[in-house]
Amino acid sequence: MHSDGHANRITLAASDQSFECEAGDVMLRSALRAGVAFPYECNVGACGNCKFELIEGEVDVVWPEAPGWTAKDRERRRYLGCQSAPRGDCTIKMRPSAHYAPKHTPRRVTATLVARREITHDIEEFRFELSADMPFEPGQYALLTLPGVKGPRAYSMSNIVNAGSQPRELHFQIRRVANGQGTGVLFDALDIGAHIDIDGPYGMAYLRRDVKRDILCIAGGSGLAPMISIARGVAAEPALGDVKLHFLYGGRTPRDVCGRDMLEALPGWAERLHFQAAVSDVTPDSETVWDGHVGFVHTVAETLFGEALRDMEIYFAGPPAMGAAVQRALVALKVPFEQVHFDQFY
Ligand SMILES: Cc1cc2nc3c(=O)[nH]c(=O)nc-3n(C[C@H](O)[C@H](O)[C@H](O)COP(=O)(O)OP(=O)(O)OC[C@H]3O[C@@H](n4cnc5c(N)ncnc54)[C@H](O)[C@@H]3O)c2cc1C
Ligand code: FES
Repeated sequence: MHSDGHANRITLAASDQSFECEAGDVMLRSALRAGVAFPYECNVGACGNCKFELIEGEVDVVWPEAPGWTAKDRERRRYLGCQSAPRGDCTIKMRPSAHYAPKHTPRRVTATLVARREITHDIEEFRFELSADMPFEPGQYALLTLPGVKGPRAYSMSNIVNAGSQPRELHFQIRRVANGQGTGVLFDALDIGAHIDIDGPYGMAYLRRDVKRDILCIAGGSGLAPMISIARGVAAEPALGDVKLHFLYGGRTPRDVCGRDMLEALPGWAERLHFQAAVSDVTPDSETVWDGHVGFVHTVAETLFGEALRDMEIYFAGPPAMGAAVQRALVALKVPFEQVHFDQFY
């Protein structure tokens, strides 16, 4: 529906694979739409994981200041797949990796904002009704194009797909960022009934339904949504009926803590679904008494679970500093890499 009918053909050098990129689309997402397993992570120009080499043809760089694109990349004709729109047919060098084969084909739909509700002083839930179906796995994210904002913004879904439920909705739990362009529009300028474009699903940190290990979900700040989606997915998945899920939420102060009520509403609460929270800033908050853990989530997780983490499947989401700290702690504890799943929130 976004196409003017024109598409460019992108050929992978030294292979017989090729795919079409429609006008208005970028290299990475058109490849994924065609089922080509193009490596990536953030989709918004930050991580640098989606680089390819341009062998033949020309591209327009959508966001030249993208932090994931360096001067060295420019010299070597290396581009970010998520920021490159082909000007014509192209040949590129990129090594597909089966890990990135999309479980659900990403698609572009129109969405209507149907509800908002406050979760904490700076997190709100935004619910969108979709013009067409968009199946996704718990833990995945979508790209929202917001009026007047350059570049899409990535937000993780907090709901799950219920078989047969209509109308299709996507729920996002979004933290307001000071002076943020996208969150500024979402919180201050988007009225109920407003239409936006949503493209998804994306992301590799989705619930592994075939793994029967107990689960630890670690959410920091804005990382609430994908971990809630995973908890909901576990509660609804018969194949995971014997799996225990521990949810650990980390905030700065007690008024940041959230998520417990969402877990309490699930079947299995207190029997196999458990919630704990930690705050890093111990200064007493005038409104809330704190009797939970104190410290950063990675140290609290280490204290609570210790070596048992090696036998758990671990999902986490949150700001890059938290992600890096959690990763370091898990490496030190020798938790196998394949048991750890995350997409960083740049
Ligand atoms: C995979 C993923 C999942 C995420 N999930 C959530 C979530 O569930 N909840 C949540 O609250 N936050 C989430 N985030 C963070 C979110 O995407 C935004 O970064 C955050 O809301 C701040 O956006 P902003 O526009 O308000 O801030 P800004 O500072 O205005 O924008 C920051 C973001 O926009 C991109 N950007 C800035 N300028 C441009 C430009 N000119 N062209 C293109 N891109 C530009 C940057 O790469 C950066 O990602 C997620 C991020 C990622 C990568
Ligand atoms: S920079 Fe393109 S996926 Fe992160």
